[in-house]
Amino acid sequence: MVKVEYQGHACFILDDGNHRIIIDPFLSDNPLAKVQPSDVKVNAVLVTHGHFDHLGNAVEIAKNNDAPVISVFEVVGYCQGKGTDGHPMHLGGTHSFPWGTLRLTVAHHASTIVDGGNLVPGGSPCGFVIGMGGKKIYHAGDTALFFDMKLIGELEELDLALLPIGSNFTMGVEDAARAVEFLKPKKVIPMHYNTFDVIKQDPQQFKNLVGGKAEVIILNPGESYTLE
Ligand code: NI
Ligand code: MN
Repeated sequence: MVKVEYQGHACFILDDGNHRIIIDPFLSDNPLAKVQPSDVKVNAVLVTHGHFDHLGNAVEIAKNNDAPVISVFEVVGYCQGKGTDGHPMHLGGTHSFPWGTLRLTVAHHASTIVDGGNLVPGGSPCGFVIGMGGKKIYHAGDTALFFDMKLIGELEELDLALLPIGSNFTMGVEDAARAVEFLKPKKVIPMHYNTFDVIKQDPQQFKNLVGGKAEVIILNPGESYTLE
């Protein structure tokens, strides 16, 4: 069992009853988020890339919880420089943590960190395949559609895929529906839309395009869905 809580944009909190992790904790500057960073209790903080709308409040939440930031080497190094614990990984690697397993997948995007007035290289952006509570969940991060999603779907039997549909910075609804064909997940939750005007999308249109290929679950920010 794993409870999947959506906090808008690309932020999710996963809870299997024993452990909680947060992914891309963009909260205090996220107009859709329903929790504040100080309310978040987690065992790990996963970050797909260094852009502000994903790194978000990772440093603060990791410090508050004595929890590691888990991401690519460059993003973890940046957070460790700000005083957090960290577990660096990189694309293609898998590791077992007390809360579950994590595989870092390719994402086609960028990962520059804005630190004050400086730009810091964030390495490669990534996606995650998370094994938790007996379920496999793919968080695509920010990415274009890419054909190797087919390979991810062959390597991992996905119970759930979290896919961006906002377009402009990532896949839009049509490409994300194609991604569902490649990944073959049982269920899909769309993300990374309606946070800003430029990524305004109708998730129902995405659901219609996916049709019978997977069950599409549309969550409003603050809502949860439990994978039984
Ligand atoms: Ni991004
Ligand atoms: Mn983004």
